[in-house]
Amino acid sequence: MRRKIIAGNWKMNNDLKETQNLITKLTSGLSGESINCEIIICPPFTSLSEAYSLIKDTKIRLGAQNMYFESSGAFTGEVSAEMLKSAGCEYVILGHSERRNIFGESNQMINKKLKKALNSGLKPIFCVGELLEERETGITEKVIANQVVEGLNDITLEEMGKIIIAYEPVWAIGTGKTATPEQAQEVHEFIRGIIKGKYNESVSENVIIQYGGSVKSDNAKDLLSRKDIDGALVGGACLKADSFIGIITAA
Ligand code: PGA
Repeated sequence: MRRKIIAGNWKMNNDLKETQNLITKLTSGLSGESINCEIIICPPFTSLSEAYSLIKDTKIRLGAQNMYFESSGAFTGEVSAEMLKSAGCEYVILGHSERRNIFGESNQMINKKLKKALNSGLKPIFCVGELLEERETGITEKVIANQVVEGLNDITLEEMGKIIIAYEPVWAIGTGKTATPEQAQEVHEFIRGIIKGKYNESVSENVIIQYGGSVKSDNAKDLLSRKDIDGALVGGACLKADSFIGIITAA
C-alpha cells in the first residue's frame, strides 16, 4: 500500500511573522487529530529555517519550492541543495508549472536539478502538467510523456524510488477549476504506465503520484480515493490552517 503524502506549496506567501502564525495554528490544530498521511510544508526560502525550528519535533516535514543545480558560486539569486539541507529541508519541489511557464525552466534544466537534489539527499517532488490549450487540442498524454521522460533522463532505478511525482494540470492551478477525479485518475494511471515502461512494475507500483490544482478540503476525499492518486500538492488552500488540516484529515 502506498502512503498518502499531503504537501503545501506556500508559493511567494508569508513573511516570518505569518510563518510563525500559520505553523502555530497548524501544529495545534493537528495535535488532536489522528494522522494517517505524511505532511510536508514548502515555505519560501526566507522562512525555511524559522519553519524548521517550529516543526522539527512534530510530524510535519520541510520542503523548498525550488533550487539550482550547482553547489555554490557566482549564481546570483540562486539557492543550492546543500543550503536547503542545512536549513532543514528533506524535500524540494522541482519543475512546478510556475517555474516552467514564468521562469522558462526546460525539461533539461529540471532534469539537472532532479539529479543534483538526489545526489545531495533531498527528495524531489517532480511536477508535470499540461496547459489548457494542450488539453483542448488532445495532446495531454504527449505533453506529460515528454515531461516525464525528459525530466527523468538518466535517473536510475534506485533514484526513482526517492522521487514523488505531482500531476498538476496547469489549467487547474489557482483557478478554482479542479480536474475531475476521473480526469486526474486517467493521467495518474498514464504516468504510472510510463514509469513501468521505463523502470519496472515494482517501481511503478511504489511511486507516489500526487495531484495538484485547486485541491480543497471539500474535494480532497473524492480525489484521494482514486486508485492512482496518492496525495495532494496544495497551493491556495494550504495558506489557511483550517483548510489545510481539512485536506490532511480527508487523507
Ligand atoms: P492551487 O495550487 O492549489 O492553488 O491550485 C497548486 C500548486 O500550484 O501546487
